[in-house]
Amino acid sequence: MRNFVADQSQEASRPDAVIAVRKATMADLPSLLDLINGYAAGGLMLPRTELEMSESIRDFSVAEAGGRLQACGALHFYTPFSGEVRSLAVNPAAKGQGLGRRLLETLEAEARVFNLHSIFAFTYVSDFFRRLGFVEVERGELPLKAWRDCFRCPKFSSCDEIAVVKYLVPPNRALMHHPAEWQEQAPLPILKR
Ligand SMILES: CC(C)(COP(=O)(O)OP(=O)(O)OC[C@H]1O[C@@H](n2cnc3c(N)ncnc32)[C@H](O)[C@@H]1OP(=O)(O)O)[C@@H](O)C(=O)NCCC(=O)NCCS
Repeated sequence: MRNFVADQSQEASRPDAVIAVRKATMADLPSLLDLINGYAAGGLMLPRTELEMSESIRDFSVAEAGGRLQACGALHFYTPFSGEVRSLAVNPAAKGQGLGRRLLETLEAEARVFNLHSIFAFTYVSDFFRRLGFVEVERGELPLKAWRDCFRCPKFSSCDEIAVVKYLVPPNRALMHHPAEWQEQAPLPILKR
């Protein structure tokens, strides 16, 4: 595996580098895996395999400079109303230059195109998300299906990630769960005659 950090540091520090944000393609897979699994090795993100990444490549947007991938992020749909921001990562050498913000804004714009009511994330960097309009919530407020990844996470029994949500419609009008999932979670009371 290439050493992503060493490879990219020179490019990322160039002040004149033109940043282009676009949807990912299969050609980005090696760089995406290097970036995400580099952070996963430090316990900051969930590791991803090539197979998983291939399945979800259409979720991903990337930022590149000088033909090199500098940042990535994914929007994964869970219900007709809500999606998760996943695998948001900036090349360590390019942090603090607004790339994380640009990626997150791109994913938010995509969510609005699909008429989502909200986007959410599980994160260790809740302050970053707060700066971009997210608020902290109880994870029980999020769709059940969003917990799927948790079952294979090494920190399953001692999770310290924070759940954050950004409402794209007024919060009192935002639906999070599919009505069917709501019924599974909290059966409607049976009315007495
Ligand atoms: C978190 C991360 C995506 C931020 O990307 P970035 O490009 O460095 O952030 P930006 O330069 O776009 O910063 C945008 C704003 O957030 C703030 N910010 C950035 N990282 C922050 C952090 N860790 N904590 C608090 N605020 C942060 C910046 O100061 C900036 O604020 P401003 O607009 O008021 O000046 C990046 O540090 C990263 O890849 N971290 C490791 C992987 C990770 O934890 N990903 C999140 C998975 S949910």
